[in-house]
Amino acid sequence: MEISKVGVLGAGLMGHGIAQIAAQAGWDVVVREVDQEHLDRGIGRIEKQLARAVEKGRMEQDDADAVRGRIQGTLDYGDLGDSDLVVEAITEDLGMKLDMWRELDGIVKDGAVLATNTSSLSVIDQAVATKRPNRFIGLHFFNPPQVMPLLEVVQTVTTDEESLKTGFEFGEKLGKLTVHAKDKTGFIVNRLLVPYLLDAIRAYEEGVGSIEQIDAAMKAGANHPMGPFTLLDFVGLDTTKSIADIMFDEYRERRFAAPPTLRKMVSAGFYGRKSGRGFYDYSGEQPQAVDPGL
Ligand SMILES: NC(=O)c1ccc[n+]([C@@H]2O[C@H](COP(=O)([O-])OP(=O)(O)OC[C@H]3O[C@@H](n4cnc5c(N)ncnc54)[C@H](O)[C@@H]3O)[C@@H](O)[C@H]2O)c1
Repeated sequence: MEISKVGVLGAGLMGHGIAQIAAQAGWDVVVREVDQEHLDRGIGRIEKQLARAVEKGRMEQDDADAVRGRIQGTLDYGDLGDSDLVVEAITEDLGMKLDMWRELDGIVKDGAVLATNTSSLSVIDQAVATKRPNRFIGLHFFNPPQVMPLLEVVQTVTTDEESLKTGFEFGEKLGKLTVHAKDKTGFIVNRLLVPYLLDAIRAYEEGVGSIEQIDAAMKAGANHPMGPFTLLDFVGLDTTKSIADIMFDEYRERRFAAPPTLRKMVSAGFYGRKSGRGFYDYSGEQPQAVDPGL
């Protein structure tokens, strides 16, 4: 299916990045937020990244202006009506996503493909809130979407072949490596990554090593670009915990259960980089590992 306009819901961490790369690939993009403050913040992030790309010589000023010109911000669902593909990247909350789809489904034109960027919810649960579950797919981007090369394209039991193909073509035009994933909670990457991150916390709880030792060991011993605690802080401990909780709820297996240290750190507001403290403290020049002492 030919795409000429892309609708994006949410201009947060993921949504602003998805809007930016879609505009960079040449599509007209309309991005919707809940209020002006969130919208301005998201569009501001895009403008900052474009300015940086020009500064570093990665993009011409004219091209950056053209990309910015293709992005329309809105608070009105009605502006997404003529989108050919709509990607939602709103808060990871099934109730909020269902309310949003119920409202949007009657507005977006027939034949458009609807997609969710959910990390942990089942795609089918959102698809059935619309009158077109056959036109519904998962498009799971990675953070930050401007940089991470992978896109998981998720097929549910109701997705038709044309919608799936549209998802793959969209990802390929964005320059992503696309992989097909079934609608199993966590898809491929989180299914493998989340138990690993949780196990790193359990290893720490058991005294296998310190935060720095475990990070250093996984970098040097498994050739990972960053250790599990650095990665946990980057993803966000709150995000990791909610993904783990959803996966545990689905599979009822210990490997997906949030360890007590994670649960308590989230209660304390230690979310990682975004809150200034997680397994590391980010207030100084260099991150310093902090013993959660829990
Ligand atoms: N953060 C990650 O690393 C990551 C990676 C892959 C996928 N995801 C998924 O992407 C989605 C968004 O995550 P995020 O980290 O960008 O969250 P975020 O909190 O940074 O952004 C969510 C944004 O959605 C907005 N929003 C809420 N309801 C809305 C509505 N009805 N219409 C328009 N905007 C609305 C909020 O105001 C907020 O700005 C989630 O489903 C998450 O699972 C996140």
